[in-house]
Amino acid sequence: MNTCMGFFFPWLLSMSLTGGLQTPISSLPPLAAPSPPPADRLREVYAWKQVDFAFPSPEIRQYAISSGSFVPKDNLPLGLEVWNSRIFVTLPRWKSGIPATLATIPRDRRDAGGNLSPTLEPYPNWSWHQPGNCDAMTSVFRIAVDPCGRLWVLDSGVVDTVDTVKQACPPQILVFDLTTDALIWRYRLPEDQVKEGSLFSNIAVDVRDGSCDDAHVYITDVWRFGLVVYKLRENRSWRITHHFFYPDPMAAQYELHGLTFSWTDGLFGLSLSPLDPKTGDRTLFFHPMSSFREFSVPTSVIRNETASDAHPDAFSPLGEPRYATKGQSSASAMDKRGVMFYNLVTRDSVGCWNSNQPGGYIPALQGVVAHSNVTLVFPNDLKIDHERRQSVWVLSNRLPVYLYSDLDPKEYNFRIMTAYVDEAAQGTVCDPNFMYVPSAEEHNIGSRLNCPF
Ligand SMILES: *[C@@H]1O[C@H](CO)[C@@H](O)[C@H](O)[C@H]1NC(C)=O
Ligand SMILES: *[C@@H]1O[C@H](CO)[C@@H](O)[C@H](O)[C@H]1NC(C)=O
Ligand SMILES: *[C@@H]1O[C@H](CO)[C@@H](O)[C@H](O)[C@H]1NC(C)=O
Ligand SMILES: *[C@@H]1O[C@H](CO)[C@@H](O)[C@H](O)[C@H]1NC(C)=O
Repeated sequence: MNTCMGFFFPWLLSMSLTGGLQTPISSLPPLAAPSPPPADRLREVYAWKQVDFAFPSPEIRQYAISSGSFVPKDNLPLGLEVWNSRIFVTLPRWKSGIPATLATIPRDRRDAGGNLSPTLEPYPNWSWHQPGNCDAMTSVFRIAVDPCGRLWVLDSGVVDTVDTVKQACPPQILVFDLTTDALIWRYRLPEDQVKEGSLFSNIAVDVRDGSCDDAHVYITDVWRFGLVVYKLRENRSWRITHHFFYPDPMAAQYELHGLTFSWTDGLFGLSLSPLDPKTGDRTLFFHPMSSFREFSVPTSVIRNETASDAHPDAFSPLGEPRYATKGQSSASAMDKRGVMFYNLVTRDSVGCWNSNQPGGYIPALQGVVAHSNVTLVFPNDLKIDHERRQSVWVLSNRLPVYLYSDLDPKEYNFRIMTAYVDEAAQGTVCDPNFMYVPSAEEHNIGSRLNCPF
């Protein structure tokens, strides 16, 4: 029987088949059949059973615990970002015992004294983390660093998310200068762009050619299915709706490690293509969380306040759904080469897709970078850093166990994993050196339905 790996040709083989083998053998990538994803292609940087914070003193820490403002088991790292020597981690206030909603740790474990589970340092400092103070930070799900060295913090303003949605403060965007850690900008979302039950959960920042004052920011409303676009230069935002932002009811059922639950989460994952030199435009790839599909829209459309209403057909689904893997995806990101990485939350895996493949977004061209039923249980956030040689960073956190069961404090529950993007994609169908040659079976949908994981 043909598996889903059956019609991939390593670059060398496909070149010889097409008679185009001109390059000396020594400069060719090693010939390797696509292999099952190794668990160790992502390197574990940190792992925590429970997280702890750098309190000003042991007495203050003890007081925080006895007063209930720090409940260790309720703290769940969710979002991450990486810049220079620091990793930034978010901890949404799902529950009440979360002392800081944004924190940092060193990028390199050696700078944390070799500690696998370092304490989190509140960012930028403790005075920003006072529940109930809407001038501080309330509940941060995700953050983004731009090429100008600024940290964009999306503060949802929502607390106690497990039982109800309580909008404690208006959602806001805070911008910090990462060289000074000073707040340089604040924007509160206008009331008419925040719906009853909204949850602003993800953020992508679009800065081109070093034009730092011309940033556009895209933020997702995962529960009310909207995209808010903020234009820094004009200090204003607008809300876009489209039916592609809605969840697919057929993808609302989730199953992992014995837990079954349903989520009707809409627009969630965002990844920006590199700038296309021909069109001068970038593409925004996006997907609802409860979906097996990926969509795209030219950013020129959403950056113009009226164009998305005028041209709803500018939004398009890519290729084919990922039905075969039942792979709902949370976060995604694209590297400079146009390779997208995305978390497969119920598959303990990180997937990839090369957007330059003429074959398009089809199951045969979805690769798996890493799979582990231990280290990658619910990979939640994923970022690609801003280094010359880029790395992909993944935070896994067993979120459904936190929400619907109990995390075992004797097990490692939260992890940060990384790999250079070139090494992460190597030997998969996302490797830019692989050439896709469609085979006869490709037209037989049955052969795609048993992709092994
Ligand atoms: C915390 O940061 C704020 C502004 O970013 C600053 O005004 C304040 O002095 C800082 N507090 C401490 C204790 O460093
Ligand atoms: C940006 O817009 C917000 C809301 O419209 C306003 O409150 C704020 O003062 C503006 N900021 C600047 C720097 O103009
Ligand atoms: C924005 O989109 C509208 C509707 O498509 C169009 O008429 C207008 O020219 C666009 N504006 C810019 C600056 O491109
Ligand atoms: C992980 O997978 C291995 C191999 O399939 C299996 O033996 C093991 O029991 C699994 N562990 C967990 C925690 O699911």
